[in-house]
Amino acid sequence: MLKINNATKSFAGIVAVDNCSFAIKQGTISALIGPNGAGKTTLFNCISRIYPIDSGQIFYKNHRLDLMPAHKIARLGIGRSFQITRTLDQLSVTENLALHTAGGIGSHLFHPGITTENRLKACEVMEFLGISTLADVDMGTLSFGQKKLLDLGTVLMADPDLILLDEPAAGINLRLLEDIINKLVTLKNQGKTILLIEHNMDLVMGISDEVIVMSAGIIIAQGKPSEIQKNAKVLEAYLGSKA
Ligand SMILES: Nc1ncnc2c1ncn2[C@@H]1O[C@H](COP(=O)(O)OP(=O)(O)OP(=O)(O)O)[C@@H](O)[C@H]1O
Ligand SMILES: [Mg+2]
Repeated sequence: MLKINNATKSFAGIVAVDNCSFAIKQGTISALIGPNGAGKTTLFNCISRIYPIDSGQIFYKNHRLDLMPAHKIARLGIGRSFQITRTLDQLSVTENLALHTAGGIGSHLFHPGITTENRLKACEVMEFLGISTLADVDMGTLSFGQKKLLDLGTVLMADPDLILLDEPAAGINLRLLEDIINKLVTLKNQGKTILLIEHNMDLVMGISDEVIVMSAGIIIAQGKPSEIQKNAKVLEAYLGSKA
């Protein structure tokens, strides 16, 4: 469903994504893991076309994403969250969700009219996440963990087939982590495809069909969680010396 062929992206001398290739299948959960600075977020930014790649190709179904503007990518059914939560704190939870349609929050700032359709979709998403009681609460009063859950909600507003999540569980407590894991598994069972960047190994190893490991811009391993856990190259990348 998503296929990355020899993608490379450099920033002034730093090769953040170095000749990366991998593919993920429809209806699966895949995790992209690796030490800090490995290039994971940059790779997401290349897939969602925030950055153009220097060389290589990125395919989604039969589309070339690397040749497409970012707003068209969202319309193809690809949704993503960001490592740093982005919200409009003075607006309600419903309004924050309703403003996140396929075009992204920025494109709606100058057209603040929220349609009934958007509100209904926001209600559906809140119900799915089990947070309907927060509908009229100001975003600014939510806890960090609730905002992380809303991050997933904003992605779901556009009903994407492919969901890219950048550290959905970073800094949240155990109960909310279980909530998020359950939601991700439900989405997979609904036929969605999920690619997530995550440092929480319990989450990664518990729900992923495939794990892709990146270190210093290079994909060093891809396989099932059980294979990745005993892969010598992976252990070496995490421990920083030969294991
Ligand atoms: N816009 C940019 N300009 C210059 N360098 C960048 C830019 N974005 C990322 N980099 C560099 O690319 C490398 C990879 O960064 P990236 O954020 O992709 O890592 P990451 O794997 O997501 O790390 P983390 O787990 O800490 O989020 C780093 O060396 C980073 O400093
Ligand atoms: Mg990152």
